[in-house]
Amino acid sequence: MKHKKIREIIKRKNKRPIVCLTAYSKTIAEILDKYCDIVLVGDSLGMVLYGMKSTREITLDMMINHAKSVKKGISKSVLVIDMPYQTYRNKKEAYKNAKKIIKSTKCDALKLEGGNKIINIIKYLINKNIPVMGHIGLLPQSERGKFKFKGRSSVGRKRIIEDAILLSNAGVFAIVIECVEESLAKIISKSIPVPTIGIGASRHCDGQILVTDDLLGLSNFTPRFIKKYSNIKKIINKSVLRFRRDVINRNFPSRKNIY
Ligand code: KIV
Repeated sequence: MKHKKIREIIKRKNKRPIVCLTAYSKTIAEILDKYCDIVLVGDSLGMVLYGMKSTREITLDMMINHAKSVKKGISKSVLVIDMPYQTYRNKKEAYKNAKKIIKSTKCDALKLEGGNKIINIIKYLINKNIPVMGHIGLLPQSERGKFKFKGRSSVGRKRIIEDAILLSNAGVFAIVIECVEESLAKIISKSIPVPTIGIGASRHCDGQILVTDDLLGLSNFTPRFIKKYSNIKKIINKSVLRFRRDVINRNFPSRKNIY
């Protein structure tokens, strides 16, 4: 594979954990780029930013527009874009849309949800020299109703392990493991040569990813796998309240703010 930045990610297996976060805009991407190895334009965009009920509603054009904005803030990290729901139902469709995303955003790689069911599509894209990140465990694009963690039953665990092996053999450069029982994520991480990126999975993964709005305390999403590193909502509330007071009391704009 030619892609240098992608090769660097693969080499991180069993080394310093890989730091990944999501971005939907240039302003956030600029900050993340300093600290992250991978920045993902996730289709969580639909739920987080647009208030959609599921990630299924996001369109290819919406993903591309946000990815273009994010790309402007990225200079060193690997930029990965989620392929939205129903944009990779067969090889031809996947390749056409993958090319469109890469051409219009200049991203480094694409992420597709699923293992066994889409393995031929993933192999096809990789054969066409498109770097692919896998995604197993909880697959938001396939879920109906509440998100529940995966791999409770032995059949479920076996299926997820098989998916990981299939994806690894197919040549994905990393695999996101979402919301699975901790020992399962550990087994997978130890048994494949490809880096695993956990979200609600395990410290034993080769890296971790969170939705940035969740870690900043901007979203209302509070499952246990999220650690809130700040409460941005509180800061925004305070700032807007102060602005309101200043406007009402005619303290804004002051001399400093006028021409
Ligand atoms: O859509 C997304 O943001 C994701 C991450 C949570 C892994 O897929």
